[in-house]
Amino acid sequence: MKFPKGFLWGGATAANQVEGGWNLGGKGPSVADVATFKPNVDVKDYSKNVAISIAAINEALNAEDKTYYPKMRGIDQYHHYKEDLALFAEMGFKVLRISIAWTRLYPTGEEEEPNMEGVHFYEDIFQEMKRLNIEPLVTLSHYEMPLHLATSYNGWYDRRVIDCFVRFAKTCFTYFGKYVKLWLNFNEVDSIIRHSFTTAGIIPELCTERDFLSCCYQAAHHQFVAGALATKALREIVPDAKMGLMVTKLTAYPLTCKPEDVYATLRRNLENLEFADVQVFGEYPRLMLRRLEKENRLPVIVDGDLDLIKKYTVDFVSFSYYMSLAESVDPNAERTPGNTVLGVKNPYLKANEWGWQIDPEGLRTSLVELYDRYKKPLFIVENGLGMKDVLEDDYTVHDSYRVDYFRSHFEAMARAINDGVDLMGYTSWAPIDLISASTNQMSKRYGFIYVDQDDLGNGTLKRYRKDSFYWYKKVIETNGEDLD
Ligand code: BG6
Repeated sequence: MKFPKGFLWGGATAANQVEGGWNLGGKGPSVADVATFKPNVDVKDYSKNVAISIAAINEALNAEDKTYYPKMRGIDQYHHYKEDLALFAEMGFKVLRISIAWTRLYPTGEEEEPNMEGVHFYEDIFQEMKRLNIEPLVTLSHYEMPLHLATSYNGWYDRRVIDCFVRFAKTCFTYFGKYVKLWLNFNEVDSIIRHSFTTAGIIPELCTERDFLSCCYQAAHHQFVAGALATKALREIVPDAKMGLMVTKLTAYPLTCKPEDVYATLRRNLENLEFADVQVFGEYPRLMLRRLEKENRLPVIVDGDLDLIKKYTVDFVSFSYYMSLAESVDPNAERTPGNTVLGVKNPYLKANEWGWQIDPEGLRTSLVELYDRYKKPLFIVENGLGMKDVLEDDYTVHDSYRVDYFRSHFEAMARAINDGVDLMGYTSWAPIDLISASTNQMSKRYGFIYVDQDDLGNGTLKRYRKDSFYWYKKVIETNGEDLD
Protein backbone atom coordinates (compact mmCIF):
# COMPACT_ATOMS: atom_id res chain seq x y z
CA MET A 1 0.00 0.00 0.00
CA LYS A 2 1.53 3.32 -0.92
CA PHE A 3 -0.39 6.54 -0.80
CA PRO A 4 1.57 9.68 -1.61
CA LYS A 5 2.89 11.82 1.24
CA GLY A 6 0.36 14.52 2.09
CA PHE A 7 -2.53 12.52 0.62
CA LEU A 8 -5.74 14.29 1.59
CA TRP A 9 -7.91 11.86 3.56
CA GLY A 10 -11.28 13.07 4.78
CA GLY A 11 -15.03 13.11 4.28
CA ALA A 12 -17.71 14.88 2.26
CA THR A 13 -21.14 16.31 3.03
CA ALA A 14 -23.57 18.78 1.47
CA ALA A 15 -25.29 21.65 3.25
CA ASN A 16 -28.80 20.59 2.24
CA GLN A 17 -28.34 17.11 3.72
CA VAL A 18 -26.81 18.09 7.05
CA GLU A 19 -27.48 21.68 8.07
CA GLY A 20 -31.22 21.92 8.69
CA GLY A 21 -32.14 25.37 10.00
CA TRP A 22 -33.83 25.82 6.65
CA ASN A 23 -35.43 29.15 7.63
CA LEU A 24 -32.96 30.33 10.28
CA GLY A 25 -30.37 33.09 10.08
CA GLY A 26 -32.11 34.77 7.15
CA LYS A 27 -31.88 31.67 4.93
CA GLY A 28 -34.40 31.37 2.08
CA PRO A 29 -35.97 28.11 0.87
CA SER A 30 -33.94 25.99 -1.55
CA VAL A 31 -35.01 23.25 -3.94
CA ALA A 32 -33.82 20.71 -1.37
CA ASP A 33 -36.10 22.02 1.37
CA VAL A 34 -39.23 20.90 -0.48
CA ALA A 35 -37.93 17.37 -1.17
CA THR A 36 -40.48 14.94 0.23
CA PHE A 37 -39.80 11.75 2.14
CA LYS A 38 -42.16 9.05 0.89
CA PRO A 39 -42.45 6.26 3.47
CA ASN A 40 -42.72 3.57 0.80
CA VAL A 41 -39.44 4.53 -0.82
CA ASP A 42 -39.18 3.11 -4.32
CA VAL A 43 -35.60 1.91 -4.64
CA LYS A 44 -36.17 0.73 -8.21
CA ASP A 45 -37.36 4.08 -9.56
CA TYR A 46 -35.57 7.02 -7.95
CA SER A 47 -37.42 9.43 -10.25
CA LYS A 48 -40.59 8.81 -8.18
CA ASN A 49 -38.73 9.98 -5.08
CA VAL A 50 -37.43 13.16 -6.70
CA ALA A 51 -40.50 14.02 -8.84
CA ILE A 52 -41.73 17.59 -8.32
CA SER A 53 -44.65 19.86 -9.29
CA ILE A 54 -45.66 23.42 -8.40
CA ALA A 55 -48.50 21.97 -6.30
CA ALA A 56 -46.05 19.80 -4.34
CA ILE A 57 -43.76 22.81 -3.78
CA ASN A 58 -46.62 24.91 -2.40
CA GLU A 59 -47.78 22.05 -0.24
CA ALA A 60 -44.29 21.74 1.28
CA LEU A 61 -43.99 25.45 1.98
CA ASN A 62 -47.48 25.72 3.47
CA ALA A 63 -47.44 22.50 5.50
CA GLU A 64 -47.70 23.22 9.21
CA ASP A 65 -46.18 19.85 9.97
CA LYS A 66 -42.79 19.56 8.26
CA THR A 67 -42.23 15.89 9.19
CA TYR A 68 -42.07 14.75 5.58
CA TYR A 69 -39.52 17.39 4.51
CA PRO A 70 -36.36 15.98 6.13
CA LYS A 71 -33.88 18.26 4.39
CA MET A 72 -35.46 21.18 6.24
CA ARG A 73 -34.04 19.66 9.43
CA GLY A 74 -31.01 17.71 8.11
CA ILE A 75 -29.08 16.44 11.12
CA ASP A 76 -29.24 19.94 12.61
CA GLN A 77 -25.60 20.59 11.87
CA TYR A 78 -26.57 24.26 11.91
CA HIS A 79 -26.42 23.93 15.68
CA HIS A 80 -24.00 20.98 15.96
CA TYR A 81 -21.18 21.96 13.60
CA LYS A 82 -18.55 22.42 16.31
CA GLU A 83 -19.28 18.98 17.74
CA ASP A 84 -19.19 17.40 14.28
CA LEU A 85 -15.95 19.12 13.28
CA ALA A 86 -14.36 17.96 16.53
CA LEU A 87 -15.32 14.36 15.69
CA PHE A 88 -13.85 14.70 12.18
CA ALA A 89 -10.67 16.11 13.72
CA GLU A 90 -10.58 13.18 16.15
CA MET A 91 -10.49 10.85 13.12
CA GLY A 92 -7.55 12.91 11.86
CA PHE A 93 -9.24 14.42 8.80
CA LYS A 94 -6.87 16.34 6.56
CA VAL A 95 -9.70 17.62 4.39
CA LEU A 96 -13.45 18.10 4.66
CA ARG A 97 -15.69 18.68 1.69
CA ILE A 98 -18.74 20.79 2.45
CA SER A 99 -21.04 22.92 0.34
CA ILE A 100 -22.36 26.42 0.84
CA ALA A 101 -26.15 26.77 0.95
CA TRP A 102 -26.69 29.42 -1.73
CA THR A 103 -29.89 30.54 0.05
CA ARG A 104 -28.02 31.31 3.29
CA LEU A 105 -26.12 33.97 1.37
CA TYR A 106 -28.80 34.93 -1.17
CA PRO A 107 -32.24 33.88 0.13
CA THR A 108 -33.99 34.29 -3.22
CA GLY A 109 -30.87 34.35 -5.39
CA GLU A 110 -31.71 37.81 -6.69
CA GLU A 111 -30.54 40.11 -3.86
CA GLU A 112 -27.77 42.55 -4.74
CA GLU A 113 -25.99 42.11 -1.39
CA PRO A 114 -25.41 38.93 0.63
CA ASN A 115 -27.11 38.09 3.90
CA MET A 116 -24.23 38.70 6.31
CA GLU A 117 -25.60 36.32 8.92
CA GLY A 118 -25.09 33.53 6.39
CA VAL A 119 -21.61 34.77 5.55
CA HIS A 120 -20.66 34.78 9.24
CA PHE A 121 -22.03 31.26 9.70
CA TYR A 122 -19.59 29.88 7.12
CA GLU A 123 -16.74 32.11 8.33
CA ASP A 124 -17.16 30.49 11.75
CA ILE A 125 -17.04 27.03 10.20
CA PHE A 126 -13.87 27.81 8.23
CA GLN A 127 -12.18 29.38 11.25
CA GLU A 128 -12.98 26.28 13.27
CA MET A 129 -11.62 24.05 10.51
CA LYS A 130 -8.44 26.11 10.40
CA ARG A 131 -8.05 25.71 14.14
CA LEU A 132 -8.45 21.94 13.73
CA ASN A 133 -6.04 21.80 10.76
CA ILE A 134 -8.69 20.51 8.36
CA GLU A 135 -8.44 21.84 4.83
CA PRO A 136 -11.79 22.81 3.30
CA LEU A 137 -12.86 21.59 -0.14
CA VAL A 138 -15.99 23.52 -1.05
CA THR A 139 -18.73 22.81 -3.56
CA LEU A 140 -20.50 25.96 -4.70
CA SER A 141 -23.64 24.21 -5.87
CA HIS A 142 -24.75 20.91 -4.40
CA TYR A 143 -28.48 20.42 -5.07
CA GLU A 144 -29.52 23.54 -3.13
CA MET A 145 -30.27 26.42 -5.51
CA PRO A 146 -32.79 29.06 -4.42
CA LEU A 147 -36.35 27.79 -4.80
CA HIS A 148 -37.35 31.26 -5.98
CA LEU A 149 -35.13 30.91 -9.07
CA ALA A 150 -36.72 27.54 -9.81
CA THR A 151 -40.32 28.70 -9.56
CA SER A 152 -39.77 32.12 -11.19
CA TYR A 153 -37.37 31.21 -14.00
CA ASN A 154 -37.54 27.43 -14.31
CA GLY A 155 -34.09 27.35 -12.77
CA TRP A 156 -30.99 27.15 -14.91
CA TYR A 157 -33.08 26.95 -18.08
CA ASP A 158 -33.17 30.76 -17.88
CA ARG A 159 -29.96 32.56 -18.78
CA ARG A 160 -30.50 35.17 -16.08
CA VAL A 161 -29.58 32.59 -13.44
CA ILE A 162 -25.95 32.77 -14.66
CA ASP A 163 -25.57 36.27 -13.20
CA CYS A 164 -27.19 35.24 -9.91
CA PHE A 165 -24.78 32.32 -9.58
CA VAL A 166 -21.70 34.34 -10.46
CA ARG A 167 -22.65 36.96 -7.85
CA PHE A 168 -22.98 34.18 -5.28
CA ALA A 169 -19.66 32.60 -6.34
CA LYS A 170 -17.83 35.94 -6.14
CA THR A 171 -19.21 36.49 -2.64
CA CYS A 172 -17.91 33.06 -1.60
CA PHE A 173 -14.45 33.76 -3.05
CA THR A 174 -14.30 37.23 -1.48
CA TYR A 175 -15.24 36.19 2.05
CA PHE A 176 -13.98 32.59 2.20
CA GLY A 177 -11.05 32.70 -0.25
CA LYS A 178 -8.54 33.21 2.52
CA TYR A 179 -9.55 29.86 4.02
CA VAL A 180 -10.58 27.85 0.97
CA LYS A 181 -8.14 27.00 -1.80
CA LEU A 182 -9.95 24.01 -3.29
CA TRP A 183 -13.33 24.63 -4.97
CA LEU A 184 -15.80 22.59 -6.98
CA ASN A 185 -18.39 24.26 -9.20
CA PHE A 186 -21.41 21.94 -9.67
CA ASN A 187 -21.93 18.69 -7.84
CA GLU A 188 -22.46 15.79 -10.28
CA VAL A 189 -22.95 18.15 -13.20
CA ASP A 190 -24.16 15.24 -15.37
CA SER A 191 -27.09 14.58 -13.02
CA ILE A 192 -29.01 17.43 -14.62
CA ILE A 193 -30.63 14.94 -16.98
CA ARG A 194 -31.51 12.48 -14.21
CA HIS A 195 -32.93 14.69 -11.46
CA SER A 196 -33.09 18.11 -13.00
CA PHE A 197 -35.05 19.84 -10.24
CA THR A 198 -32.49 19.15 -7.52
CA THR A 199 -29.58 19.82 -9.85
CA ALA A 200 -30.90 22.78 -11.80
CA GLY A 201 -34.32 23.83 -10.52
CA ILE A 202 -36.15 22.66 -13.65
CA ILE A 203 -39.86 22.00 -13.12
CA PRO A 204 -41.37 19.81 -15.87
CA GLU A 205 -44.66 21.73 -16.09
CA LEU A 206 -42.76 24.98 -16.74
CA CYS A 207 -41.07 23.50 -19.82
CA THR A 208 -43.54 24.99 -22.28
CA GLU A 209 -41.16 26.37 -24.94
CA ARG A 210 -39.18 23.20 -25.57
CA ASP A 211 -39.39 19.59 -24.49
CA PHE A 212 -38.16 18.69 -21.03
CA LEU A 213 -34.82 17.19 -22.06
CA SER A 214 -34.04 20.17 -24.29
CA CYS A 215 -34.59 22.41 -21.26
CA CYS A 216 -32.11 20.27 -19.32
CA TYR A 217 -29.41 20.63 -21.99
CA GLN A 218 -30.07 24.36 -22.20
CA ALA A 219 -29.67 24.56 -18.44
CA ALA A 220 -26.45 22.54 -18.65
CA HIS A 221 -25.10 25.01 -21.18
CA HIS A 222 -25.85 27.86 -18.80
CA GLN A 223 -24.02 25.98 -16.05
CA PHE A 224 -20.97 25.56 -18.31
CA VAL A 225 -20.92 29.32 -18.97
CA ALA A 226 -21.46 30.11 -15.29
CA GLY A 227 -18.77 27.60 -14.32
CA ALA A 228 -16.30 29.28 -16.68
CA LEU A 229 -17.18 32.71 -15.28
CA ALA A 230 -16.75 31.39 -11.73
CA THR A 231 -13.30 30.03 -12.62
CA LYS A 232 -12.40 33.42 -14.12
CA ALA A 233 -13.54 35.17 -10.93
CA LEU A 234 -11.64 32.69 -8.73
CA ARG A 235 -8.41 33.34 -10.64
CA GLU A 236 -8.87 37.08 -10.12
CA ILE A 237 -9.99 37.02 -6.49
CA VAL A 238 -8.04 34.03 -5.09
CA PRO A 239 -5.15 33.43 -7.51
CA ASP A 240 -3.64 30.60 -5.47
CA ALA A 241 -6.91 28.58 -5.44
CA LYS A 242 -7.94 25.73 -7.73
CA MET A 243 -11.27 24.99 -9.37
CA GLY A 244 -12.44 21.44 -10.01
CA LEU A 245 -15.37 19.88 -11.79
CA MET A 246 -17.44 17.10 -10.23
CA VAL A 247 -19.01 14.23 -12.15
CA THR A 248 -20.89 11.07 -11.16
CA LYS A 249 -18.70 8.23 -12.38
CA LEU A 250 -21.21 5.66 -13.57
CA THR A 251 -18.89 3.04 -14.98
CA ALA A 252 -20.69 0.47 -17.15
CA TYR A 253 -19.37 -2.83 -18.52
CA PRO A 254 -20.70 -4.72 -21.53
CA LEU A 255 -22.80 -7.63 -20.22
CA THR A 256 -21.36 -9.76 -23.04
CA CYS A 257 -18.70 -9.31 -25.72
CA LYS A 258 -21.43 -9.19 -28.36
CA PRO A 259 -20.33 -6.16 -30.45
CA GLU A 260 -23.73 -4.46 -30.02
CA ASP A 261 -23.42 -4.69 -26.22
CA VAL A 262 -19.92 -3.26 -26.44
CA TYR A 263 -21.10 -0.33 -28.56
CA ALA A 264 -24.10 0.39 -26.30
CA THR A 265 -21.73 0.40 -23.32
CA LEU A 266 -19.30 2.71 -25.06
CA ARG A 267 -22.06 5.22 -25.77
CA ARG A 268 -23.39 5.01 -22.25
CA ASN A 269 -19.95 5.69 -20.78
CA LEU A 270 -19.27 8.54 -23.22
CA GLU A 271 -22.59 10.19 -22.38
CA ASN A 272 -21.72 9.97 -18.68
CA LEU A 273 -18.48 11.87 -19.29
CA GLU A 274 -19.56 14.47 -21.84
CA PHE A 275 -20.41 17.03 -19.14
CA ALA A 276 -16.89 16.67 -17.76
CA ASP A 277 -15.35 16.76 -21.25
CA VAL A 278 -16.77 20.25 -21.85
CA GLN A 279 -15.16 21.57 -18.68
CA VAL A 280 -11.75 19.95 -19.20
CA PHE A 281 -11.33 20.30 -22.96
CA GLY A 282 -13.22 23.59 -23.18
CA GLU A 283 -15.47 22.41 -25.96
CA TYR A 284 -18.51 20.25 -26.60
CA PRO A 285 -17.68 16.72 -27.79
CA ARG A 286 -18.59 16.34 -31.46
CA LEU A 287 -20.57 13.16 -30.76
CA MET A 288 -22.66 14.97 -28.15
CA LEU A 289 -23.44 17.84 -30.54
CA ARG A 290 -24.34 15.41 -33.32
CA ARG A 291 -26.70 13.49 -31.02
CA LEU A 292 -28.39 16.64 -29.77
CA GLU A 293 -28.68 17.95 -33.31
CA LYS A 294 -30.40 14.76 -34.46
CA GLU A 295 -32.78 14.97 -31.49
CA ASN A 296 -33.40 18.68 -32.14
CA ARG A 297 -32.14 19.45 -28.66
CA LEU A 298 -29.14 21.70 -29.32
CA PRO A 299 -28.95 24.47 -26.72
CA VAL A 300 -29.08 28.13 -27.71
CA ILE A 301 -25.48 29.35 -27.55
CA VAL A 302 -24.88 33.08 -27.38
CA ASP A 303 -21.82 34.80 -28.94
CA GLY A 304 -18.89 34.64 -26.56
CA ASP A 305 -20.13 31.58 -24.63
CA LEU A 306 -17.83 29.14 -26.40
CA ASP A 307 -14.83 31.43 -25.94
CA LEU A 308 -15.45 31.56 -22.21
CA ILE A 309 -15.84 27.79 -21.98
CA LYS A 310 -12.60 27.37 -23.95
CA LYS A 311 -10.63 29.85 -21.88
CA TYR A 312 -11.65 28.96 -18.34
CA THR A 313 -11.33 25.21 -18.02
CA VAL A 314 -10.92 23.43 -14.68
CA ASP A 315 -7.71 22.68 -12.80
CA PHE A 316 -8.64 19.23 -11.51
CA VAL A 317 -11.27 16.53 -11.93
CA SER A 318 -13.29 15.23 -9.02
CA PHE A 319 -15.92 12.53 -9.03
CA SER A 320 -18.24 10.35 -7.01
CA TYR A 321 -18.02 6.60 -7.29
CA TYR A 322 -20.35 4.22 -5.47
CA MET A 323 -21.18 1.37 -7.82
CA SER A 324 -20.94 0.10 -11.38
CA LEU A 325 -23.44 -1.31 -13.83
CA ALA A 326 -23.55 -3.54 -16.86
CA GLU A 327 -25.12 -2.64 -20.20
CA SER A 328 -26.81 -4.79 -22.82
CA VAL A 329 -29.02 -4.38 -25.87
CA ASP A 330 -31.13 -7.30 -24.68
CA PRO A 331 -34.43 -5.78 -23.48
CA ASN A 332 -34.94 -8.76 -21.17
CA ALA A 333 -31.62 -8.40 -19.35
CA GLU A 334 -32.21 -8.17 -15.61
CA ARG A 335 -31.95 -4.59 -14.32
CA THR A 336 -30.80 -3.10 -11.04
CA PRO A 337 -30.78 0.45 -9.68
CA GLY A 338 -27.61 2.43 -9.07
CA ASN A 339 -26.98 6.03 -8.11
CA THR A 340 -30.07 7.66 -9.69
CA VAL A 341 -29.79 5.31 -12.67
CA LEU A 342 -31.09 1.98 -13.77
CA GLY A 343 -28.70 -0.44 -15.44
CA VAL A 344 -28.16 -4.07 -16.14
CA LYS A 345 -27.33 -6.41 -13.31
CA ASN A 346 -23.76 -7.72 -13.22
CA PRO A 347 -23.74 -11.41 -12.19
CA TYR A 348 -20.28 -11.01 -10.62
CA LEU A 349 -21.25 -8.33 -8.11
CA LYS A 350 -23.21 -8.09 -4.86
CA ALA A 351 -25.44 -5.12 -4.08
CA ASN A 352 -26.76 -3.28 -1.03
CA GLU A 353 -30.45 -3.05 -0.13
CA TRP A 354 -30.91 -0.22 -2.65
CA GLY A 355 -29.56 -2.37 -5.48
CA TRP A 356 -26.26 -0.46 -5.81
CA GLN A 357 -23.65 -2.99 -6.93
CA ILE A 358 -20.42 -3.01 -4.94
CA ASP A 359 -17.39 -2.97 -7.22
CA PRO A 360 -14.01 -1.87 -5.86
CA GLU A 361 -12.12 -2.91 -8.98
CA GLY A 362 -14.44 -0.58 -10.90
CA LEU A 363 -12.92 2.27 -8.90
CA ARG A 364 -9.47 1.36 -10.17
CA THR A 365 -10.84 1.12 -13.71
CA SER A 366 -12.51 4.51 -13.31
CA LEU A 367 -9.38 6.18 -11.94
CA VAL A 368 -7.21 4.87 -14.75
CA GLU A 369 -9.79 5.78 -17.38
CA LEU A 370 -10.33 9.32 -16.06
CA TYR A 371 -6.65 10.04 -15.61
CA ASP A 372 -5.75 8.77 -19.04
CA ARG A 373 -8.61 10.76 -20.60
CA TYR A 374 -8.12 14.08 -18.83
CA LYS A 375 -4.49 14.08 -17.69
CA LYS A 376 -5.48 16.25 -14.73
CA PRO A 377 -5.08 15.49 -11.03
CA LEU A 378 -8.05 13.48 -9.75
CA PHE A 379 -9.92 13.74 -6.45
CA ILE A 380 -12.41 11.11 -5.24
CA VAL A 381 -14.91 13.35 -3.47
CA GLU A 382 -17.63 10.77 -2.76
CA ASN A 383 -17.52 7.04 -2.14
CA GLY A 384 -19.30 5.03 0.51
CA LEU A 385 -21.91 2.47 1.47
CA GLY A 386 -25.51 3.22 2.44
CA MET A 387 -26.86 0.69 4.96
CA LYS A 388 -29.44 0.39 7.73
CA ASP A 389 -27.16 0.38 10.78
CA VAL A 390 -28.23 -0.83 14.22
CA LEU A 391 -27.49 1.21 17.33
CA GLU A 392 -26.93 -1.35 20.09
CA ASP A 393 -28.11 -0.91 23.68
CA ASP A 394 -24.59 0.17 24.66
CA TYR A 395 -24.60 2.81 21.87
CA THR A 396 -22.12 0.98 19.66
CA VAL A 397 -22.63 0.25 15.97
CA HIS A 398 -20.91 -2.80 14.51
CA ASP A 399 -20.57 -1.89 10.85
CA SER A 400 -17.92 -4.35 9.68
CA TYR A 401 -19.65 -4.39 6.24
CA ARG A 402 -18.73 -0.71 5.87
CA VAL A 403 -15.10 -1.35 6.84
CA ASP A 404 -15.01 -4.15 4.23
CA TYR A 405 -16.40 -1.79 1.60
CA PHE A 406 -13.87 0.94 2.33
CA ARG A 407 -10.93 -1.44 2.69
CA SER A 408 -11.55 -2.97 -0.73
CA HIS A 409 -11.93 0.46 -2.31
CA PHE A 410 -8.75 1.79 -0.69
CA GLU A 411 -6.84 -1.23 -1.98
CA ALA A 412 -8.19 -0.48 -5.45
CA MET A 413 -7.10 3.16 -5.11
CA ALA A 414 -3.62 2.06 -4.11
CA ARG A 415 -3.45 -0.16 -7.21
CA ALA A 416 -4.51 2.76 -9.41
CA ILE A 417 -1.89 5.03 -7.83
CA ASN A 418 0.64 2.30 -8.48
CA ASP A 419 -0.57 2.23 -12.10
CA GLY A 420 0.45 5.90 -12.33
CA VAL A 421 -2.73 7.83 -11.50
CA ASP A 422 -2.24 11.25 -9.89
CA LEU A 423 -4.77 11.17 -7.03
CA MET A 424 -4.92 14.23 -4.77
CA GLY A 425 -7.18 12.86 -2.09
CA TYR A 426 -10.25 11.00 -0.96
CA THR A 427 -13.35 12.18 0.88
CA SER A 428 -15.77 9.46 1.94
CA TRP A 429 -19.50 9.95 1.61
CA ALA A 430 -20.43 10.65 4.21
CA PRO A 431 -18.43 10.76 7.43
CA ILE A 432 -21.63 11.27 9.43
CA ASP A 433 -25.15 9.94 8.83
CA LEU A 434 -27.27 12.43 6.89
CA ILE A 435 -30.42 12.70 4.79
CA SER A 436 -30.24 10.69 1.57
CA ALA A 437 -30.23 12.79 -1.60
CA SER A 438 -32.31 10.41 -3.70
CA THR A 439 -34.70 8.83 -1.20
CA ASN A 440 -34.79 11.48 1.55
CA GLN A 441 -34.29 8.69 4.07
CA MET A 442 -32.35 9.09 7.29
CA SER A 443 -32.22 5.31 7.60
CA LYS A 444 -29.92 4.99 4.58
CA ARG A 445 -26.80 5.60 6.62
CA TYR A 446 -23.29 6.24 5.32
CA GLY A 447 -21.41 7.64 8.32
CA PHE A 448 -18.56 6.67 10.59
CA ILE A 449 -20.69 8.58 13.08
CA TYR A 450 -24.23 7.47 13.90
CA VAL A 451 -26.85 10.20 14.35
CA ASP A 452 -29.82 9.29 16.51
CA GLN A 453 -32.68 10.35 14.28
CA ASP A 454 -35.21 8.32 12.27
CA ASP A 455 -36.86 8.98 8.92
CA LEU A 456 -39.58 11.07 10.55
CA GLY A 457 -37.20 13.22 12.57
CA ASN A 458 -37.65 11.42 15.92
CA GLY A 459 -34.52 11.01 18.05
CA THR A 460 -32.07 12.80 20.29
CA LEU A 461 -29.70 13.87 17.47
CA LYS A 462 -26.87 12.56 19.63
CA ARG A 463 -23.78 11.45 17.75
CA TYR A 464 -22.15 8.01 18.38
CA ARG A 465 -18.89 6.62 17.01
CA LYS A 466 -19.40 3.45 14.93
CA ASP A 467 -16.73 0.71 14.72
CA SER A 468 -15.73 2.15 11.33
CA PHE A 469 -14.86 5.45 13.06
CA TYR A 470 -11.90 3.87 14.83
CA TRP A 471 -10.87 1.97 11.72
CA TYR A 472 -10.82 5.07 9.49
CA LYS A 473 -8.88 6.97 12.15
CA LYS A 474 -6.17 4.30 11.94
CA VAL A 475 -6.18 4.36 8.15
CA ILE A 476 -5.55 8.12 8.19
CA GLU A 477 -2.92 7.88 10.93
CA THR A 478 -0.94 5.39 8.85
CA ASN A 479 -1.64 7.13 5.51
CA GLY A 480 -3.43 4.04 4.25
CA GLU A 481 -0.72 1.55 5.30
CA ASP A 482 -2.85 -0.19 7.91
CA LEU A 483 -6.18 -1.37 6.51
CA ASP A 484 -6.70 -4.31 8.88
C1 BG6 B 1 -24.28 11.56 -4.69
C2 BG6 B 1 -24.71 12.92 -4.21
O1 BG6 B 1 -24.86 11.30 -5.89
O2 BG6 B 1 -24.66 10.46 -3.96
C3 BG6 B 1 -24.96 13.01 -2.72
O3 BG6 B 1 -23.78 13.90 -4.60
C4 BG6 B 1 -25.72 11.79 -2.28
O4 BG6 B 1 -25.62 14.21 -2.45
C5 BG6 B 1 -24.87 10.56 -2.56
O5 BG6 B 1 -26.14 11.81 -0.96
C6 BG6 B 1 -25.49 9.25 -2.12
O6 BG6 B 1 -26.76 9.12 -2.66
P1 BG6 B 1 -28.04 8.85 -1.76
O7 BG6 B 1 -29.17 8.97 -2.67
O8 BG6 B 1 -27.85 7.50 -1.20
O9 BG6 B 1 -28.02 9.91 -0.70
